[in-house]
Amino acid sequence: HGNSRVDHNGHLEIGGCSTVQLAEQYGTPLYIYDEVLIESKCREFHEALKETGLKYQVAYASKAFLCIEQARLIEREGLCLDVVSSGELYTALQAGFPPEKIHFHGNNKSIEEIEEALDAKIGCFVVDNFFELEVLQAIAEDRGVYVSILLRVTPGVEAHTHEYVMTGQEDSKFGFDITSGQANEAVAISLDSPNLKLLGIHSHIGSQIFEPDGFVHAIKILMNFLNALKNELDYTAEILNVGGGFGIRYTSEDEPLSIVKHIDQITSIIKQQCEELSYPVPELWLEPGRSIVGEAGTTLYTIGATKNLPSVRKYVSVDGGMTDNIRPALYGSKYEAMLANRANDENKEVVSIAGKCCESGDMLIWDCELPVVESNDLLAVSCTGAYGYSMANNYNRIRRPAVVFVKDGVSRVVVQRETYKDLIKNDMIYIENSSIR
Ligand code: LLP
Repeated sequence: HGNSRVDHNGHLEIGGCSTVQLAEQYGTPLYIYDEVLIESKCREFHEALKETGLKYQVAYASKAFLCIEQARLIEREGLCLDVVSSGELYTALQAGFPPEKIHFHGNNKSIEEIEEALDAKIGCFVVDNFFELEVLQAIAEDRGVYVSILLRVTPGVEAHTHEYVMTGQEDSKFGFDITSGQANEAVAISLDSPNLKLLGIHSHIGSQIFEPDGFVHAIKILMNFLNALKNELDYTAEILNVGGGFGIRYTSEDEPLSIVKHIDQITSIIKQQCEELSYPVPELWLEPGRSIVGEAGTTLYTIGATKNLPSVRKYVSVDGGMTDNIRPALYGSKYEAMLANRANDENKEVVSIAGKCCESGDMLIWDCELPVVESNDLLAVSCTGAYGYSMANNYNRIRRPAVVFVKDGVSRVVVQRETYKDLIKNDMIYIENSSIR
């Protein structure tokens, strides 16, 4: 998909660059991002939202994948940025991302993080809990500043997705619960906090959502909640943020709704509810992460050892694994792969792709049909652009791969491969005559 094709040599080409050449030039494992596909996803959100006539804002959820060049791309595409830690904030600011277009999420922002975000003059905080409300008001008062906030609420809706990425249900670590009246109380406190300006409410029901019913259900609850606030507290929200979570197609079994259709459903239910309740239509904010970058990323590996257990299975090991993509091990996520150097070969077999970590759970794909593999073949795993690099780790002291952007036949490294020195850069060395300084 995207701007990928197989060239006349049977090599997978992405963004006009041969993956075989990319592997030679940069080594493997390698994260390759189709920059044009990221751009077109950003534009898809803009275009679909413009159609609706609603005022809107789209913030890219940087947790899905962030580096300086990605922040710059997001800025060029006119999106805002959602950050969840001072590390993401720092990266965005270093990229020159306009602070007023950044909003800050998280269920346990430290005082230091709040101070840093206020120093940077970010656009708004998405306040998660009573403790944060209190701290934020106190710090803002101390500084003599006014802070724009949204309140994160949980509508009590269960999105049909993996339980680790489900966030809208009542029993959740995130946000103020509507059902028990905590959300109501949080609004009252916000309105009483002289240094906080309550712009509206936020809810994120989960991730990798395929059907509109979760959103529709949540929005009904949110609009009823807002309407009650209007009657009880004379408060009208300017902004309704319904989070992210738009699903993507990892494998041919996935049939996600298109972005346009999701937005169509979301906006029509908002309009319908506002009409029914005679509530002024709020500005709609979205926070997609996965749907912007997921399909744009491909991970390229070199195949090494294979182990054949006749009539059981054949294990094919690659030079990466759960260190660059923890999703299969953590969530049982499924991926598809192809041989990047022999994409058209017909003689197929079914193999299972193993990572190189010391752990049986480090399997990237079970039962994957590929041309009969040989060591040194290149394996391309598609749709690894979201939560791959961003959740990468150094288990077994494996170095994080490089990240390359490709576009119109040109490739450029946006994150360098980690070096051995990077691995020990924080280690204290107490050995005399060590070769490392
Ligand atoms: N907004 C909030 C408040 C979120 O918590 C998230 C994701 C998003 C937006 C973006 O959701 P997206 O559009 O990317 O689905 N590591 C997991 C996903 C965790 C999602 C956490 N929050 C995975 O690899 O599937």
